[in-house]
Amino acid sequence: MIDTKTLISKTAVGKRVGELARTISDDYAGAQEVILVGVLKGAFVFLSDLSRQLEIPRRIEFVAVSSYGEEPPTGEVRLLLDLRHRIAGEHVIIVDDIVDTGHTLAYLQRTLRAREPASLRTCVLLQKPERLEAECHVDYLGFEIPDVWVVGYGLDYKEQHRTLPYIAEAKVPGDPYRE
Ligand code: IMP
Ligand code: MG
Repeated sequence: MIDTKTLISKTAVGKRVGELARTISDDYAGAQEVILVGVLKGAFVFLSDLSRQLEIPRRIEFVAVSSYGEEPPTGEVRLLLDLRHRIAGEHVIIVDDIVDTGHTLAYLQRTLRAREPASLRTCVLLQKPERLEAECHVDYLGFEIPDVWVVGYGLDYKEQHRTLPYIAEAKVPGDPYRE
């Protein structure tokens, strides 16, 4: 087990998720339906809490993506699990856990935009601004964090700590971005 230190408490996360849900509910008031596209696995806790507090008609869908894991990293992304339904003409919100280099999000935004949804926005819980490389756009952001490896609330280090109820900084040996 690795050492962890609380970075954002359960209370602070809960409060911010509630605020995001209210903002999104206001912005989409009157929309017939919104499709929330959760990015597996990391977004599952955030999506679950966020979606249950929305006050608009919504549907839940999932995609799964993976980086190619090349050395050196190329920023290439692969779609492992696609949507089950067409999204043309629909209001779509991508929901993800964290924007790091932004390559995953840039890829998803390109891919989903090409399917001509009525609108496409992105809601992300965490972003590490110092690490951003790709061109992507975040409409709803929970917290900006420094360049540290974080776990909990859906985020993992080697599949550990995803179900911590708060966000913690993990003291990981070596370079977690390469593992
Ligand atoms: P990006 O494509 O570099 O923005 O990477 C996005 C993905 O990398 C996220 O969806 C996470 O799965 C993973 N990731 C990046 N930083 C962290 C972290 O600090 N903790 C856990 N996962 C992370
Ligand atoms: Mg993710």
